[in-house]
Amino acid sequence: MPISSRAVAAVAAPPAAVRPLAISPTASVTTATASARPAVDQASAARTVQLEELRERHDRECPFCTTSRNHTQTVFGEGNAFADVFFVGEAPGDTEDTTGRPFVGRAGQKLDEMIQAMGLRREDCYIANVLKSRPLDNRTPLPSEVALCGPYLVEQILIVRPKVLVSLGGPATQLLLNVETGITKLRGIWTQWTPPQGSGMAPIPVMPTFHPAYLLRNYTVQTRGEVWSDLKAVIQRIAESSSNASR
Ligand code: URA
Repeated sequence: MPISSRAVAAVAAPPAAVRPLAISPTASVTTATASARPAVDQASAARTVQLEELRERHDRECPFCTTSRNHTQTVFGEGNAFADVFFVGEAPGDTEDTTGRPFVGRAGQKLDEMIQAMGLRREDCYIANVLKSRPLDNRTPLPSEVALCGPYLVEQILIVRPKVLVSLGGPATQLLLNVETGITKLRGIWTQWTPPQGSGMAPIPVMPTFHPAYLLRNYTVQTRGEVWSDLKAVIQRIAESSSNASR
């Protein structure tokens, strides 16, 4: 079903077959057994602290963000430290640069609609960009910039340990997967993000989809249908996977 304002309302409660069972940490905590709940809460609190420490270290040390002169503040990322779904964008735009929060401009509003259509709340997910500060003239990040700032995204993923990564648009997908293929060929096809050696973490499934800004520019039945099909695959995948309590 394509994402239009009418369709979004219609998919707010997806059919039972695709309704996530433990899609949100909140839901997982709610459905976790009484004995598992404190462990989930503790792990979540520990990850929140780790993310905050990482944010401070990033802002102090990132070789790109500490030397770039094009931004007013960094945009580290935000969300649930125990999220099942981790959305990866490219870099902050103007509104993000002003607010210090990822995806809060027009593209962010569209991303919020996409998340809602999945039956989730924004605060259930984790959202971060490959670059933590606005690139010069809002252009696509350069490989040299990604090499400097990208490792902090890797650390964020290692802390959150999501069940699924959703890469938004070509640059984020290419940067995350280290490929040069265009998003039109990559979207809708499951692939994997391989954690660094020694992390002890299993590969994480990645669903590449169109960037919400692209969706806004190409608001056709076809594009909306493609994005919705990608998001449905994510919902299905999470519904099938084991509960958060085992992570
Ligand atoms: N586009 C992105 O890729 N990230 C943001 O945070 C906002 C717009």
